[in-house]
Amino acid sequence: MANQEAAGFDGVSDRSALQEFSVSNSESFWAAVARQRLSWIRPFHTVQDCDLSRGEIKWFVGGQLNVSVNCLDRHVHTCPERVALIWERDESGSEVKVTYRSLLEMTCRLGNLLRRHGVKRGDCVTIYMPTCPLAVASMLACARIGAAHNVVFAGFSAEALAERIRDAQSGTVITVNQGVRGGKVTELKKTVDTAVQSCPAVQQVFVAMRTENPVAMTARDVAMEEEMLKEDVVCEPAAMDSEDVLFLLYTSGSTGKPKGLVHTQAGYLLYAALTHRYVFSYHDGDVFGCVADIGWITGHSYSVYGPLANGGTTVLFESTPIYPDPGRYWEMVQRLKINQFYGAPTAIRLLLKYGDEWVHKYDRSTLKTLGSVGEPINTEAWEWYHRVVGDGRCPVVDTWWQTETGGICISPRPSDADAEIVPGMAMRPFFSIKPTLMDTEGKVLTSNDVSGALCIAQPWPGMARTIHNNHQRFIETYCRPHPGYFFTGDGAYRSKEGYYQITGRLDDVINVSGHRIGTAEIEDNQCAAVAESAVIGYSHDLKGQGVYAFVVLKNDVEVQGAALCQQLNNMVSKKIAKYACPDFIQVFVQRLPKTRSGKIMRRVLRKVVERDLDGVGDLSTLDDPTAVQEIIQGHGDLC
Ligand code: PRX
Repeated sequence: MANQEAAGFDGVSDRSALQEFSVSNSESFWAAVARQRLSWIRPFHTVQDCDLSRGEIKWFVGGQLNVSVNCLDRHVHTCPERVALIWERDESGSEVKVTYRSLLEMTCRLGNLLRRHGVKRGDCVTIYMPTCPLAVASMLACARIGAAHNVVFAGFSAEALAERIRDAQSGTVITVNQGVRGGKVTELKKTVDTAVQSCPAVQQVFVAMRTENPVAMTARDVAMEEEMLKEDVVCEPAAMDSEDVLFLLYTSGSTGKPKGLVHTQAGYLLYAALTHRYVFSYHDGDVFGCVADIGWITGHSYSVYGPLANGGTTVLFESTPIYPDPGRYWEMVQRLKINQFYGAPTAIRLLLKYGDEWVHKYDRSTLKTLGSVGEPINTEAWEWYHRVVGDGRCPVVDTWWQTETGGICISPRPSDADAEIVPGMAMRPFFSIKPTLMDTEGKVLTSNDVSGALCIAQPWPGMARTIHNNHQRFIETYCRPHPGYFFTGDGAYRSKEGYYQITGRLDDVINVSGHRIGTAEIEDNQCAAVAESAVIGYSHDLKGQGVYAFVVLKNDVEVQGAALCQQLNNMVSKKIAKYACPDFIQVFVQRLPKTRSGKIMRRVLRKVVERDLDGVGDLSTLDDPTAVQEIIQGHGDLC
């Protein structure tokens, strides 16, 4: 496959030459790949028009296409009965297969239904659903009619959902009556009802039935499946410009307000498709098993857009790794004959603790590639994944990327002939990606065996274009720190051999079980009892990072101990989601360590929690060093 790809370029005969070519001739590389791999309504006239320092990114300018046509129609023409989706429902052993033909029908009916209800090109539709075929059809229906989608993870609270609906200026929501995960029912429609009370722009809520239990419907609600049946199975696709918005996806940054990253049509789709094919060595006929939720970028790029653009068969996983038991993933691999399995280190670490028997019980001989994403994978988990799950014969690809990057940027590529893979390292950049490490003064580190801030030196088609309604924040976050480079917010180490290892975030974002949370988002909770708080991440065996909150109470507050912690946890799960709740809350009546200018010294708090008292370092800039002493001595209640 690699040589075939290389053959399209003059003078490029093998994979490493192609890698070099893609970096130094990124325009020619992407132009050729875009012509070869996407179906265009109108060809593009300019490959790219980018200025990283101003955050102006445009790819395939002048081109028009429709993403749903690329993901569906063109495969329906060649292989209508091929399975597009295998919905691995929460109830194990009850999977549902959806062919390309029926996914196209579903998408068209939904596209027509949305159009009939006034959804227009350029509108934004919020999707609050579990991972299921109707959610995928909803995303594709938006793409078909030119609306942008905004998928909100169905574990988010009503408040978090409402905030995202409002920021996206979304007038339409699609949801289900109830969700089912790990055997537990969640009241998603009720959550939407609560959310839309504070979203006056929402005109309509489409409600699909995931369970048989009826829910209260209001005048605003539309019974989705019932109404879809009335629609035609043909829906005219909108001709979209390459740079029209395909979707918004909210993610956490270092301030309290989540940011709606914007991805556009052609570049995103092409990048998701090419990375899916090469990083995982995906071949036609393979069954691709990405177990991420569609509410995250991994679900977007590798459960939906990448595999479908490649005409692949993709698994939609609705459940959890331990339901009904810790053999769930591997029983599923056996039953669905999964060839590539893509999951998160946090789940691998959890399953490792349950022992090898749960893996050995099932036949995993179909597996060819194992992928890891979302957080660093420690060596023990990597080794176990490789040795036990993959029987030592499947390459493990530790893939580094972000919501912002649209697709995988640094990862081993097992199809490379000389593919050495070092456990726990993301290894090498993908085609055309030029990683650069910066020192603390912002100078480029040119040698090997160095650590620095990870930047990317040239634009690539899959990168986010802006933050919805806040281009200034986009520029300040990604373009300003190192002008001319895209700043990722992560640190990385480049080994003697030139391989990359991600060392973690450089900002106040923490990563809990692969979920990204800004510490400020948790701190921002308004609790009557709390004067101020500081939240930090600490190293956690299973979750990668846990949440540790330092809380200072108001003077006159009586409530303490368990009751207070309960109150604080309830607030965080109400405002954000359960996974954001602190593991530890240390409650004080004194103050937090601050600089003289009033900034909380998180570095100091981190060192105290890590019990690295020597590392606490210089405290001379602290306003009141006794604050640290009290924390070190463990003053206050810990719960
Ligand atoms: O810190 C990096 C970490 O996850 C962040 C991106 O989070 P999100 O936008 O939610 O996307 C997650 C799925 C792509 C990154 O800034 N991260 C992601 N992959 C890895 C990783 N850290 C270490 N190794 C990885 N493979």
